[in-house]
Amino acid sequence: MTTAQRPVIKTMANLEAAFAGESMAHIKYRYFAKLAREAGDEETARTFEATADQEVSMPSATWTCSTPRPP
Ligand SMILES: [Fe+2]
Repeated sequence: MTTAQRPVIKTMANLEAAFAGESMAHIKYRYFAKLAREAGDEETARTFEATADQEVSMPSATWTCSTPRPP
């Protein structure tokens, strides 16, 4: 590995960790929505679902990653 490759590898690791964290948050919010709905609190359930959707939404349709993936 060259010195020039290290920032790319670290960036990809950070992106993968962030994606995993956001995905887990999405799952947790969906679970909380299920619990709220089962408890009869539809408004809270919908709030959790809306929050869950935000965890996995893209900032814009034109977002791209210009950093090449390491070999
Ligand atoms: Fe988040």
